[in-house]
Amino acid sequence: MLRENIPEPSKLVEPDRVRKEVYTDAEIFEREMARIHETVWIYCGHESQVPKAGDYYTVQIGRQPMIMVRGKDRKVHVLYNRCPHRGNMICGDRKGNTGEQFRCSYHAWTFQHDGKLKNIPMKSAYDGTRYGKGNPDCDMKKAARVENYRGFVFASLAEKGPSLEEFLGKAIVAFDDMCDRAPQGEVEVVPNCFRVVQHSNWKLFLENQLDALHPAVVHQSTGRAAHEVEKILAKRAKGGAAPLSYHMLSAFATVTIDKWDDFQTINYPYGHCILTGYMGLRPQDPDTLAYDKIMIKAYGRKRFEEIVGVNIHHVLIYPGLSVQSPLQQLRAVRPLSVDRTLTEIWHFRLKGAPEAIYRRALGYYNLVNSPSTMVNADDLENFWRCHQGLASEGGDWVSFHRHAGQDEETAGGVIMSRWGTSEAPMRNQFRAWTHYVAGGR
Ligand code: FES
Ligand SMILES: [Fe+2]
Repeated sequence: MLRENIPEPSKLVEPDRVRKEVYTDAEIFEREMARIHETVWIYCGHESQVPKAGDYYTVQIGRQPMIMVRGKDRKVHVLYNRCPHRGNMICGDRKGNTGEQFRCSYHAWTFQHDGKLKNIPMKSAYDGTRYGKGNPDCDMKKAARVENYRGFVFASLAEKGPSLEEFLGKAIVAFDDMCDRAPQGEVEVVPNCFRVVQHSNWKLFLENQLDALHPAVVHQSTGRAAHEVEKILAKRAKGGAAPLSYHMLSAFATVTIDKWDDFQTINYPYGHCILTGYMGLRPQDPDTLAYDKIMIKAYGRKRFEEIVGVNIHHVLIYPGLSVQSPLQQLRAVRPLSVDRTLTEIWHFRLKGAPEAIYRRALGYYNLVNSPSTMVNADDLENFWRCHQGLASEGGDWVSFHRHAGQDEETAGGVIMSRWGTSEAPMRNQFRAWTHYVAGGR
């Protein structure tokens, strides 16, 4: 039961500041799960995670344990991980292959890959009862809606709402940019992902993704160390360049705070946001030139230039996905409780691209997004500290005043900010939050 005295969303969220309870109140968390995560489109996984019939992956959508499974009909289904008999969880493992059917480990009811009841042992015992084949209550329940965009599978647990493409809007570029960079127009997931549980509210992670003020502060130590080595290696290469992997880290130091303002955030309805690119990922080394050649053969020079000219670094798809398409990285955010958040960190292979291009994505994955790098560790430290401070009596509000009142609202509710370090993305996320928590779709 939700308590009745949760303040109205408008009392919790103002255009430039937010009450701390939004991050720390367990009942507000329950309401967020019901009205946001268990309503909107949530990323389940990539279809290449389940290539064969019977392959499955379990995934959390809001508070609901779900299963993404490949059926014999080649379709990807998303089901609640619950047996309709007495409620037993059907899949106890994170992933696997269920064979011809799901079989409940408790009393051996079996189900097809699409969740339909297949058999009940000694089913005559149900004669004359309401239970048995044909009664949908005896099937594993399906997610209300499932859609697949270029291999990326999303589910919504609400019957009604915008289609996936309407929901994604311009943020769909995250998947187009990633897939278009593949000579074969598709990506495949690299098994497996890093899983990190951070001790903080889920929104802190999303806010940080497009917080362009923090990298030059939080990641400066990593960036400077990498830059020192990069300079030495470049000198040894006699006018050449150090490996690109050093650049991935040194950019945290060489792109200073003031330079971050030169980038731009474009804030879309539903809380999505794009941060324009900054890393200059078009070096002229032999690996890149070999890749360019394959791409030009696949697409022609004009289309190739368009594809590699897409200038984005980061796409945030509210409320649960952060995509770095030029580097084939994706992080899915799965709230566990008001102060615990799981992130799944995935990376992808461009189908048809040379191995060296994959190694580049792997380099970024390991050096920047992995839990063993200082970059990720330094962010995690701040998430934990923020949550501790917010849970204290030291103040009531969280400030998003940076460049407040200077956002430029254009057609279709798109908010442009010409300062990369503006807190416009956070204000935009709370615009969506307020809409959803008040019951909007
Ligand atoms: S709980 Fe699943 S068969 Fe009984
Ligand atoms: Fe960071």
